[in-house]
Amino acid sequence: MTQTPIHAVVREHYAERARKSDSCCAPDATSACCDTKNVIYTDELLATVPDDIASFSLGCGDPITLAALQPGQTVLDLGSGGGLDCFLAAKKVGESGHVIGVDMTPEMLEKARASAKRMGVTNVEFRQGFLEDLPVDSNSIDVTISNCVINLSPDKAKVFSEVFRVLKPGGRLAVSDIVTDGPLPDAIKQSLSMWAGCVAGAVDAKDYIAMMETVGFTEITVTPTFFDKETVDEAIKEVGDKIDLKSVSQDELYKTVYSARITARKPGSL
Ligand SMILES: C[S@@+](CC[C@H](N)C(=O)[O-])C[C@H]1O[C@@H](n2cnc3c(N)ncnc32)[C@H](O)[C@@H]1O
Repeated sequence: MTQTPIHAVVREHYAERARKSDSCCAPDATSACCDTKNVIYTDELLATVPDDIASFSLGCGDPITLAALQPGQTVLDLGSGGGLDCFLAAKKVGESGHVIGVDMTPEMLEKARASAKRMGVTNVEFRQGFLEDLPVDSNSIDVTISNCVINLSPDKAKVFSEVFRVLKPGGRLAVSDIVTDGPLPDAIKQSLSMWAGCVAGAVDAKDYIAMMETVGFTEITVTPTFFDKETVDEAIKEVGDKIDLKSVSQDELYKTVYSARITARKPGSL
């Protein structure tokens, strides 16, 4: 698959996030820049994960609890980043299960593989690839999870058709993602750094649902969890003065962009 300019910008953004965290969040690092506690998941879920791995989380929700994973299942994580959701999923599916994390950014894969080795996790593998062209066999996955990644894709319809292809009949999708209620201002939509910051690529929940329906998903639910003020603030901070945001009301943005829990099923039975 040929990478688009959006892929290139997103990839560099997350490569930098991985490099930065390697320089200051390593277990033996002296800097305290990574000591923020992960409040997305319950303490119980994070109990077996070293603090520095648990705190490297760029997600917007808890797809693990949403997915209600069972021992023996095969799980795919779209945009696995530093690997935290894969490690939590690995615990749930146990030794008889298997977890595949897919990410396009080599620096993230390197980080995730190093953490897996350090934790001694053997039922997880990380593969390099695009969400729009998954390096995964058809009809092989019980549950696909993802945390704040589908919004980053320039071709979400292709992502959903790929997820549908790799799921077994009866398989499920359980993701946390950013969606919108209504359109985003043009100035935001045209900014590549706002795209990398998980804002500009977010689509209206109605369009998100329509894309899933088109490829064949059923039992689709989209449950808003919180208005994502933090993501909006962070993206705006990173943009700096690269784009003119004078015409954009930050308050309107806060009311448009939100995190949601999204579930769906591929028809059939497991
Ligand atoms: C916001 S981070 C989320 C990482 C992880 N899910 C988490 O919760 O910490 C997005 C990740 O998705 C990856 N990514 C974004 N778009 C992608 C695409 N089209 N194909 C593959 N990976 C992608 C990035 O490289 C990055 O690691």
